[in-house]
Amino acid sequence: MNHLVSISDYSKEEILDILRAAAGFEANPNRKTLDGKVVATLFFEPSTRTRLSFETAANRLGARVIGFSDAATTSSSKGESLHDTIQMVSNYADVIVMRHYLEGAARYASEVSRVPIVNAGDGANQHPSQTLLDLYSIQKTQGRLDNLQIYLVGDLKYGRTVHSLIQAMYHFKPTFHFIAPDELRMPDEYKLFCDKHGIQYTESRELEGNFNDADILYMTRVQKERFQDLVEYERVKDVYTLRYDMLEGTKPNLRILHPLPRVNEIAYDVDKSEKAYYFQQAQNGLYVRQAIISKVLGL
Ligand code: CP
Repeated sequence: MNHLVSISDYSKEEILDILRAAAGFEANPNRKTLDGKVVATLFFEPSTRTRLSFETAANRLGARVIGFSDAATTSSSKGESLHDTIQMVSNYADVIVMRHYLEGAARYASEVSRVPIVNAGDGANQHPSQTLLDLYSIQKTQGRLDNLQIYLVGDLKYGRTVHSLIQAMYHFKPTFHFIAPDELRMPDEYKLFCDKHGIQYTESRELEGNFNDADILYMTRVQKERFQDLVEYERVKDVYTLRYDMLEGTKPNLRILHPLPRVNEIAYDVDKSEKAYYFQQAQNGLYVRQAIISKVLGL
């Protein structure tokens, strides 16, 4: 079955196919290729962009959407297992888009589901549809994916989007620069992944004045919901705030990405810069998710 659980499930060619298909959907987003299909969106964790863009993607392709955005309103609140929930929804839908707070939940769902599973984020692990829209955004703004200087900033420990992005970019010979406080450093497993695949990276705690050669500045939110100790969250939550004046001296092709939502990590005055691309990035998610749904359904 065509699940999308981890970005490493896709080869380089499959990734490039998705980007090509997304460009086609951007040119013509309204097609009724999924007429008669049902897409289920099961969100055990909050979401704005991922859920609504998947649902919009399904609607624009002519599918019907079922699902929930608050697991408290479902029988999982009565103790129903994820196994049984997936069994039930497999009876009703042709594809399941699922976000869950547990790492590995999407992989588990894919093992018990009778329809394709799309991972819309599992804990601090993976967010592959976000990665594909990030790649689409990078390709669109830089004209290429190869040999880019990519700065990842903020919560590199719990941020699932940066973990997926590293695994996807290894096809394209990037140089990464990890900027994080000690408490939120990139986990060793991702640095080992870079070492194994010959990906160059640097590590630093400093943001200001430290990204003048960047092609992509990828800001992330400190993931409050993953902290066991809220005192520690309070200590690091405002560690980096990108301001407009900090963009002076940066390259003309620099684009600032952020998976959103933002809290304090990008000041609102940055929005007026032509280098701010995070809202267009979120819009790109619609086209990429049209491509993903079509692919997992074999269309
Ligand atoms: N980028 C992202 O996953 O946003 P949401 O949490 O709003 O879906």
